[in-house]
Amino acid sequence: MVSAFDPGELKSIFSTNEQNRTTDDYFLESGDKIRFFFEEHAFHSDGALKQPKEQSINKIGHALHDLESLFDTFSRSSKVRDLVSDLGVEDPLLLQSMYIFKQPNIGGEVTCHQDSTFLYTEPTNIVGLWFALEDATIENGCLWAIPGGHSTGLKSRWVRTPNGMKFEIYDNTPWPEEALVPLEVSKGALILLHGLLPHRSYENKSSKSRHAYTLHVISGRATYSANNWLQRSPAMPLRGF
Ligand code: FE2
Repeated sequence: MVSAFDPGELKSIFSTNEQNRTTDDYFLESGDKIRFFFEEHAFHSDGALKQPKEQSINKIGHALHDLESLFDTFSRSSKVRDLVSDLGVEDPLLLQSMYIFKQPNIGGEVTCHQDSTFLYTEPTNIVGLWFALEDATIENGCLWAIPGGHSTGLKSRWVRTPNGMKFEIYDNTPWPEEALVPLEVSKGALILLHGLLPHRSYENKSSKSRHAYTLHVISGRATYSANNWLQRSPAMPLRGF
């Protein structure tokens, strides 16, 4: 998929830095598509890539599970279906999928957040499945999380407004990041993320990539917010397993 991707003039960057979070249409319309986002530090000042294209893309998202048969088969396997059922998610719907590269040398950080900030449902019962496709270590930018932090309320939401995206802040206190613990896992491991669990990852300054596949599942009985960034066109409604 990466080798077939021709970025042309389009070089959308994924960054979780609030000041320059990518809010362009390419990102905001990607909820029912397969789109490619570059690492923030992929480019020289003249716009040329510092590394080959294959080592410059931050992630691919966000409907791999509906549009690409390999990801469809994996995401809707009986193992994943049964696991989500065991977690108590009723009438599950597969909301979002991402292939995350965390590229060597330039893999960007993802600042501390709760997934429900970006994918809000009422009640807030989103589940994140994070599959390690390569060993994830402190060195190459593994996940970190705050134990028990999911019992903290939702601190903010990222919402669509007539003038673009904005954060609605409910709790302005900083995350107690000194409480973060690294989630180092081997290739093939699955990390389950409660939608309210604060988690992050640091930059990957190592020479090793840290590929992961993530899938977010919601309950069809919950109300999916109409002002979340991720919206499906009527032609491509969310589907279950
Ligand atoms: Fe997350």
